[in-house]
Amino acid sequence: MSEELRTVWWDGEALGLIDQRRLPHEQITVRCTDVEAVAHAIKAMVVRGAPAIGCAAAYGMALAARAGAANDSGDGEARALLERLAQAKALLDAQRPTAVNLAWATARVLRATERFVEAGTSPTTAAIAARVLEEAHAIIAEDLAMCHAIGEHGAALIPARGRVLTHCNAGGLATAGYGTALAPIRTAHRQGRAVHVLVDETRPFLQGARLTAWELREAGIPQTLITDNMAGYMMRRGEVDCVIVGADRIVANGDVANKIGTYSLAVLARAHGIPFYVAAPSSTIDLGLASGEQIPIEERAPEEVTHLNGQPIAPAGVAAAHPAFDVTPHELVSAIITERGVIYPPFAEGLRNAVITEGQPRQG
Ligand code: MRU
Repeated sequence: MSEELRTVWWDGEALGLIDQRRLPHEQITVRCTDVEAVAHAIKAMVVRGAPAIGCAAAYGMALAARAGAANDSGDGEARALLERLAQAKALLDAQRPTAVNLAWATARVLRATERFVEAGTSPTTAAIAARVLEEAHAIIAEDLAMCHAIGEHGAALIPARGRVLTHCNAGGLATAGYGTALAPIRTAHRQGRAVHVLVDETRPFLQGARLTAWELREAGIPQTLITDNMAGYMMRRGEVDCVIVGADRIVANGDVANKIGTYSLAVLARAHGIPFYVAAPSSTIDLGLASGEQIPIEERAPEEVTHLNGQPIAPAGVAAAHPAFDVTPHELVSAIITERGVIYPPFAEGLRNAVITEGQPRQG
């Protein structure tokens, strides 16, 4: 993925997205002009990846605010607009339950807007909508900066031979740009260091084969695509120096929800004495949950398992399971790479510090 190609952007009137369902064969953009379209794009995986859906949802809130402001009829409109934003948040949050970045972003926008209304001298709905958009822009800018910082901190963890296994897509496509798990890899590559990525294809949605392989090829980073069931064999043969994955939610004790298959990789990495790293911005940390057992796991359509590109690959009518994420217990995680630095076990204190802003616990 080139530095210029963006995943999520504001075109002045609407949200622009690269349609990730069509990659790598076609680069098509989708334009969302209302919050319902943003919600649909998140559910349908036009945009996916924890930070990226948070960024898209922030602009969904901006679209809801603009629609509310356009209908401004005078009295009590600020309160009505806040109510409308609360409804937009509920709609957006309901689309994908596992990645906490989604609800984190909508909560942050809503809270910033409430503060603006409370502090202001009866702001107009146009001024409120402008404040919502400003907060959405800030979320996107911060996400990009956090990814670059993760790259700096994480690159130092990549061993000299530089053979990194990754799962799913935690790259620029999954964020405002640059990525989380791919950020240390990109930075090491920029530093002129040897780095070679083993890319898990990531059944059933193929984020590895379709998206990570595409991004790495665009960036000129050497890679080898493998099917998910080859990972253990590669580790056994000494072909993997470390594993780096992203996260959809990291809870207070360090348990990590990420794409289905991540847990198996962590078990394999431990069995082979290979470091297993998780790279994520602080917006992925959820201190409200004590352990991974409390994380809601999204169940997606079984057809995504029984079919590939619309073609059946299993007998008609066969039952199929499709949990989209799993939870890796913190005992299997070697370190968590955040924008503030690398956190080592035990994780609780480091995770708390990662979400402290100016001496205060971060407010969504
Ligand atoms: O279902 P997806 O494609 O949204 O799942 C994405 C992942 O699991 C990523 O690893 C995670 O969101 C981190 S993205 C920086």
